[in-house]
Amino acid sequence: MTERLDRLRATFERAGQGHVFRFVDRLDDADRERFLDSLERIDLSLLGRLIDELKHDRPVATLDLGRLAPPPMVPRPEGPGGRRKENRAIRAGEELLREGKVAAFVVAGGQGSRLGFEGPKGCFPIGPVGGTTLFEWHFAKVRAAGERYGARLPMLVMTSEANHEETVEFLERHDRFGLAAEDVFVFRQGMLPAVDAEGRLLLRSEGSLFLSPDGHGGSLGALAREGLLDELERRGVEEIFYFQVDNPLVKVLDPAFLGHHRLGQAEASSKAVPKRDASEKVGVFAKAGRKLGIVEYSDLPDDLGRARDDEGELAYRAGNVAIHVFRTDFVRRLTEGGLRLPYHRARKAVACLDPTGDSAAPTEVTGVKFETFVFDALPEAKRSLVVEASREEEFSPVKNASGDDSAATARRDMSLLFRSWLEAAGFELERGDAVRIEISPHLALDRDELVRRLKKERVLSAGRLLIEPEG
Ligand code: UD1
Repeated sequence: MTERLDRLRATFERAGQGHVFRFVDRLDDADRERFLDSLERIDLSLLGRLIDELKHDRPVATLDLGRLAPPPMVPRPEGPGGRRKENRAIRAGEELLREGKVAAFVVAGGQGSRLGFEGPKGCFPIGPVGGTTLFEWHFAKVRAAGERYGARLPMLVMTSEANHEETVEFLERHDRFGLAAEDVFVFRQGMLPAVDAEGRLLLRSEGSLFLSPDGHGGSLGALAREGLLDELERRGVEEIFYFQVDNPLVKVLDPAFLGHHRLGQAEASSKAVPKRDASEKVGVFAKAGRKLGIVEYSDLPDDLGRARDDEGELAYRAGNVAIHVFRTDFVRRLTEGGLRLPYHRARKAVACLDPTGDSAAPTEVTGVKFETFVFDALPEAKRSLVVEASREEEFSPVKNASGDDSAATARRDMSLLFRSWLEAAGFELERGDAVRIEISPHLALDRDELVRRLKKERVLSAGRLLIEPEG
């Protein structure tokens, strides 16, 4: 033990971080062991690089903001030509699904706290009528797609240190919503130490470092670290369908999107919806030279955010909805020998021990947290596509307790979408009626399936169709 302690102390002192041992003599054996374990897991060479970038205030941009231009996009299908192209894409995507070459991947590291909900965000009840949770909603789509295409489609779920146990317990309690245990992979995202403005590691307590999640870009590193890329390759999975847990409208495993990506020979593809207005907090797609990527809302210069094109539309209107397809071999390349994504810095007040003094009393300092963004992978792809999508059909995230992007707007948008499906199937609903509608993915995954089932098969018992007047 002393030998291990001395060795680690010397290593950390060489890295200018010897202060983390200030209280080590006060720890009992078990706590000291745990502390040393956690220190051994710190990648000091990565940390050294991040601190160097912090001290020199190096900008973190994957696209040269001085050379930005709006990106090319696969437009929404219009006219007979557009429809033909779309149908070709659907057929290509369906073939991938039938051959079991696609996995679904949801990042669910977040908590519901901003919604006033205790627990993992995926456990938040979002169904407008039945209160179906976000997890159930996404899992049901994967299960329904598996049944439709007769394939075993894996479901990957990335959690965080904060919600892993609870998520696993929740999914088990609900029998993984019908997915087989061997097809569901739940794993934790990585953690990185936070530092103060001087680059000193922070202590949360006498025997623990202040760590924070490494961002959703870390999800790609975690796939490699957890051996899941090996597992996907073993199963012959060639494409990973990535999405965020907070959006109940995601067309999980959408064949058209998969097909465009595949026919376009892309290594990474993304969906985009038109921004609501210049101030909406979504990243936007852009090109800089040959590189295509996303500029986060906080980084987009104001004048570009407001710029209009010749048609009077926002020039940078292609909003990021965090729905991507990544080729498995692209993720392999990106993660070999360590994750090759830039680390962004977020400055936040954190409660920790004073990094300079000898007091173990908690205090608040401005900490610097490091995180990677999954969309920074896009410029690394040899070919990257952006596919335009409809906001009404595909994007209504639950982020805030009230107002825009809240549970109320998501439920409203789900009901409106399902209403349009029912109308397409010949149901008449009074125009003015505000009704809540919930159509389980087991009844229909999309409008055309509902139309087919209700009109031709006259099936109403296979899944749930819930309608109730609002109020
Ligand atoms: C994010 C995107 C933004 C996009 C918008 C669409 C970033 C930096 N920005 O914004 O470009 O337009 O979504 O809804 O992502 N998560 C983890 N682990 C982490 C961080 C996040 O699992 O370490 C998951 C969360 O569970 C959440 C999602 O990623 O579902 C989004 O993260 P959040 O911080 O809410 O990003 P936004 O600001 O909403």
